Parts: sequence; structure tokens; C-alpha cells
Amino acid sequence: MSRPTGSALMEKIVALSKRRGFIYPASDIYGGLNGFWDYGPLGTQLKNNLRDRWWRDMVECPPIGPDGSPLQIVGLDSSIIQNPRAWEASGHLGGFNDPMVDCRESKRRYRADHLMVYRHDKDLPWFAFMEGEGESIHKKMKKAGVNPEICTVATYLEMSADAYPRIVGPDTKVPGSLTEPRQFNLMFKTFVGATTGEDNVAYLRPETAQGIFLNYKNVLDTSRVQLPFGIAQVGKAFRNEVTPRNFIFRSREFEQMEMEFFCHPDQAEMWFEYWSQSRLAWWQAQGVSKKNLILRQHDKEELAHYAQEGAGTCDVEYRYPFSGDGYGELEGIAHRSNFDLGRHQQFSKTKLEYFDPQTRERFLPHVIEPAAGLSRGVLVLLAEAYDVDESRPSPELMRFHPHLAPLKLGIFPLTKKDGLPDIAEKLFMDLRKKYTCQFDIKQGIGKRYARMDEAGTPFCITVDHTTLEDRTVTVRYRDTGAQERIAIDHVSTFLHGHLG
Ligand code: GAP
Repeated sequence: MSRPTGSALMEKIVALSKRRGFIYPASDIYGGLNGFWDYGPLGTQLKNNLRDRWWRDMVECPPIGPDGSPLQIVGLDSSIIQNPRAWEASGHLGGFNDPMVDCRESKRRYRADHLMVYRHDKDLPWFAFMEGEGESIHKKMKKAGVNPEICTVATYLEMSADAYPRIVGPDTKVPGSLTEPRQFNLMFKTFVGATTGEDNVAYLRPETAQGIFLNYKNVLDTSRVQLPFGIAQVGKAFRNEVTPRNFIFRSREFEQMEMEFFCHPDQAEMWFEYWSQSRLAWWQAQGVSKKNLILRQHDKEELAHYAQEGAGTCDVEYRYPFSGDGYGELEGIAHRSNFDLGRHQQFSKTKLEYFDPQTRERFLPHVIEPAAGLSRGVLVLLAEAYDVDESRPSPELMRFHPHLAPLKLGIFPLTKKDGLPDIAEKLFMDLRKKYTCQFDIKQGIGKRYARMDEAGTPFCITVDHTTLEDRTVTVRYRDTGAQERIAIDHVSTFLHGHLG
């Protein structure tokens, strides 16, 4: 078995994630809940490691700016629920819509812009499928006498109303069950307080960014930042996605790592370029291979309402297993101009202008926003790390970058006898203060190595009978399976060299 690709690779990743405790379907014992996922012990650690890296590189030790000095970026943790007026001002209440299509037969709902249709000029049905999943309906088409090879592909949004009755939905066999596209607001509604009237309606945030804009003045008034500066936040966001899919890629509850970088309007274009390059380089530094990442500039028609003017938007995109020959979004870098501050100033009637003490100029800063998906980042790490090595008795392994691996070290006594467990346990008790380690005494050594390979643990240390003679231990490298002996007193130095 070599490393699979495409949907076979996705299946392997989803299966390993569940089997090894990276990610489970939410409410699993009740049959799950579409679009929601829970992170298990290894997945939580992996996600936290990625989050902590981002926080460190963004807030605690921000990048060096073009003038050679470190940028000023501060952290924030704002409420998930804010005053609903904020969502009116941000445009989410009026405009955060996706066109959706219902299937009367299967009762499923699809995003119209992700729904594709196989068309042809024969007197036979046309067939709809979800973007990237065309092959999954080929059998059904052939059964109905339609050869996919003679078809052209268009989006459902391009269909005229008289075509709807001849289209077979992705999950049905009969034509005519799909409705016309309708707008659907993606925000989750809730009620604040005991009553459930319209006056008590509130929303779960669909992005962490607005909490930053709402606190821009607080941060400016209470910390020593001056333009240009950034405010960063990591947290949950909620979107009632019409068609959650591709595992954690598009879910209804997910985490974002967003930073709003406030600058003078004249410098916005320069900072847009700076952050686009800087974010691409950051993902590469997390071990994501260059060949699987691109920076893609948005076309004018694709731009979100807040990015219609100015330098535009570009995405860091990754070649996900389900993207075929293409790529999918991992992070967006947008020039939001002064859209958000301007709207919040207008709606809240609070002055949000910046006063530059040097030039005595008053203005609304422009914003460059690198907005990354933490959950999507985890999917990228899983896809990037998954590998198969047929020479191993248990061939699946996860090649995480050592600094992101959930466990850094497995520590084993070769057998349960001759005092080996005591020596191994002492080593474990010392090292666990610095590194996430697992002490494992169960089953043969081969099985224990295999368990660590699947968890993506970069190093294993085994205490054996030679340890009793010369105080050396075996270090096994996950990536090559190679082993070497080092002095037990040098294990800490060895790990410091490899893991920092
Ligand atoms: N504040 C700007 C903003 O939210 P976005 O492109 O809608 O921009 C930013 O979201 C990032 O959040 C995306 O690049 C993606 O990584 C992640 N994201 C968005 N929707 C998601 C979803 N339904 N499931 C998982 N991640 C999502």
C-alpha cells in the first residue's frame, strides 16, 4: 500500500483521526451532528500547538517590520456574543448570505455556488454534484444512459429556471427535486435573557474580527500602541454553513486566528504585500511543503463587501486531498480599508479616528487582515503528515513537524523485568516537565513504536539491558526508523538540539 491520494487519502485521515483520538464526530454516540467535530487528546494537543505557535509568532515575538524593528501586535479575547447592532454595522446581518438549494426528495441542502451540473444536448436528464465530487455520480449517470465524457460542467447558479425540472440532485435518482437558489443567512441566532422576543435576539459571532474592531478604541486608549499596530485574537466562530463538508474543512463551529493590522491609508498597499508574503512563509515554517501552498490574488468579482476597494485580497491556499488539481483556502489576507471602523463609528456614534501627534492628522486607519483558520490549519497538518511506509509492520505514520507534534517523545522499558521500568520511569518523570511524553510499557516494542508512529511522535527512547551496563539508551527516529545509542545523561541535550 503506497500513500493514497484524493478521496482515498481523506478516508484514511478521517479513519486514523477517529481511531487515534485526533478528531471525532461531535455527539458521536447520538449519531453525530452534521458540521460539528470534537477534538480528542492528540487532536487537542496538535491544535493547541499550532495556536500557540501563531500566538507566539504574532503577539509575543511579532515579526520584524520593513524598517528592521519588531512590529507592535497585542492580544485580545472578546466575547462570542456582542451587541447585535455590531452585526448590522459590519454588514453580516444584511449581507452574510449564501445562495442555497434544497432537495425536496432527499431533504438535503446545498450551496448553489458549490453545486455543479453535468450538461449535454441529448434528451436525457442532467446531473448535479458537489464541486470536486463529480466522479461519485458517474455510475448513476451511466445507468441512466448518460456518458459523463460527452458532458460539459456548469454551476447550478448558471442554470435557467426551465432547466431545474430536468436536473437530478446529487443524492437522488429522479429529476426535478432541486429548488431554485434562495439566500440564507449564515449567522446562528440565539436569545439573551429569559424572554425569546425579537428584542432579545443575539448572534454567535461568524468571525473573530469584529470583536477586534469593537475594542480598537479600548486598546488604543489603554495601551501604548501607536500606528501601525495590530490586534490579534484566536477563538471560535460559528457559521450555519449550508453544506458543511470535507471533514473539518467547512464546519459550522470552527476556530480562527485573526489579526487586524491598523495603518495609515498611504501605507496600506505596502502592508498588504508584507503580510501576504509573511503569512505564506509562516505556513511553510510549520512544515507545510512549498509545493502544496500558493498565494492567490482574488478577482474583482470575488472580493468581500469590505474589500471592494484598495489593494484587494489574496488567499494562502493549500492543495487539500479533495481539491483535485486545484487548491482550497487556508488563510485570507484582505485589505479591509476603513470599512469596519467607518461603519462602527457611524452606527455607534463613537469617534474612532486616530490622531497622529507628529503630523497632527486625524483619520480612520486602514486595516490589513491576515485571517487564518485554526481548524483548517489542523486539517492541513494532518494531510501533510499522513504517510505510508510499507517496510514497517504497521505502515501508517504521521510525519508532523517536531515542534507541532502532539507528543514529542515515547519512553519505554524494553521489558517489565530487571529494573528497566524504574529507569525508564525516572527518565519520563524528568523529561515530562519540558516535553509532552508518553510512558508505555504495554505489548512488544514493535507495537509501541507503531503506536507512536501513528501519533506522529518524532522520537522514542528505549531503556534495555545494555542501559544497565553502560547507561546508554536507544533513540529511535520516527521518520527513518533508524536507531542510535546515546548516553542517558545526554537525552536532555539531544532533545534540546532537536526540539529546542
Ligand atoms: N474576518 C475575515 C474572515 O472571517 P473568511 O475567509 O470568511 O474571512 C477566514 O475566514 C478563515 O476562516 C478562512 O480562510 C478559513 O480558514 C476559516 N474558515 C472560514 N469558514 C470556515 C468554515 N466554515 N469551517 C472551517 N474554517 C472556516
